[in-house]
Amino acid sequence: MLSFFDRLSLPLLRVIDPEDAHKLAINALRIAPIPRAAADDPALGVRAFGRDFPNPVGIAAGFDKNAAVPDALLRLGFGFVEVGTITPRPQAGNERPRIFRVAADQGVINRLGFNGEGAPSALARLTERHSRGGIVGVNVGANKDSQDRIEDYVRLVETFAPIASYFTVNVSSPNTPGLRDLQHASALNELLSRVLEARERARHAVPLLLKIAPDLTLSELDDTVGLARKHRVDGMIVGNTTVSRPQSLRDRRTAKETGGLSGRPLFKLSTRMLAETFIRAEGAFPLIGVGGIDSGATAIAKIKAGATLLQLYTGLIYHGVGLISQIKSDLLAALKRGHRSSLAAMVGSDVVDITAESWPS
Ligand SMILES: Cc1cc2nc3c(=O)[nH]c(=O)nc-3n(C[C@H](O)[C@H](O)[C@H](O)COP(=O)(O)O)c2cc1C
Repeated sequence: MLSFFDRLSLPLLRVIDPEDAHKLAINALRIAPIPRAAADDPALGVRAFGRDFPNPVGIAAGFDKNAAVPDALLRLGFGFVEVGTITPRPQAGNERPRIFRVAADQGVINRLGFNGEGAPSALARLTERHSRGGIVGVNVGANKDSQDRIEDYVRLVETFAPIASYFTVNVSSPNTPGLRDLQHASALNELLSRVLEARERARHAVPLLLKIAPDLTLSELDDTVGLARKHRVDGMIVGNTTVSRPQSLRDRRTAKETGGLSGRPLFKLSTRMLAETFIRAEGAFPLIGVGGIDSGATAIAKIKAGATLLQLYTGLIYHGVGLISQIKSDLLAALKRGHRSSLAAMVGSDVVDITAESWPS
């Protein structure tokens, strides 16, 4: 049924404007009767930051910015959903066009700039569906014109604490000028202190993760992971889109568009940064690996580079929703081949080799 849906919809979705295609996909998920994916094999279950995930494959932030369709996404077979980035107030984002397919390379460049309906409408939807369960994380960010960006994160954590399965503090989107400066030591120190105090005040022990850019230098990464450890964050997400443009890109013309690159061309850099983060975290918290996952093989490679959980977005655009069950069955096959009963034993098993390679260019 789902692969039939893919066969019908993918060719159409790929010829129309990418932002219109995304709107169509959200509307289809809102109104179509989505059959519930088969229950996951217990061997795919993952326990991380106090939550039990039925499988490790999540939908990354940016697909469901306004928390419009988390339940449909869970029914498709995702083990968890991350909604957002949510900002306190509604925001139009940048001028269209602002999403570009880099089709020859199976990538996407976006410069959306946190377009969204703002916190109140997302909160209403998430409150209404809360009793249905499932892991729904809330990714939070600051409004572009905010006078005190850190205060935006604080308010969002206070507001969403009663209904968020976890929070992602997004300081890594390249499309809000200056936002990524919050990743740097003194700003990040203040941000994490204030956000974690807000979580205390809210009296809900919601796990808090930090999502970073794959473009940090290794010495910046030292500081970032050091602060994450000092403040005892519950995990890190590695990572967001890249402002770099790998030499391997074939579509050089689209590559010139300003924005963050995702998908297959991001795989090498994001996987290297994941392995570098894993080494620095020394088991203090689990990592979510994101960037260029578009097959069982790339999913397994992320786990071996240090990911306890996975997220994807761009892979769906090129491979459709059938990718979710494909990855899950490939993960199960890998467990069987290795005579392992859970994915945990694979996490980080390749980091020494990965970090010994020359830097991805
Ligand atoms: C169109 C688009 C919008 C995105 N919006 C967000 C966002 O609002 N917040 C965020 O943290 N990441 C956002 N991302 C980044 C993704 O969550 C993910 O980190 C990145 O795309 C790499 O994964 P992928 O290669 O599987 O797409 C967006 C990505 C795309 C393609």
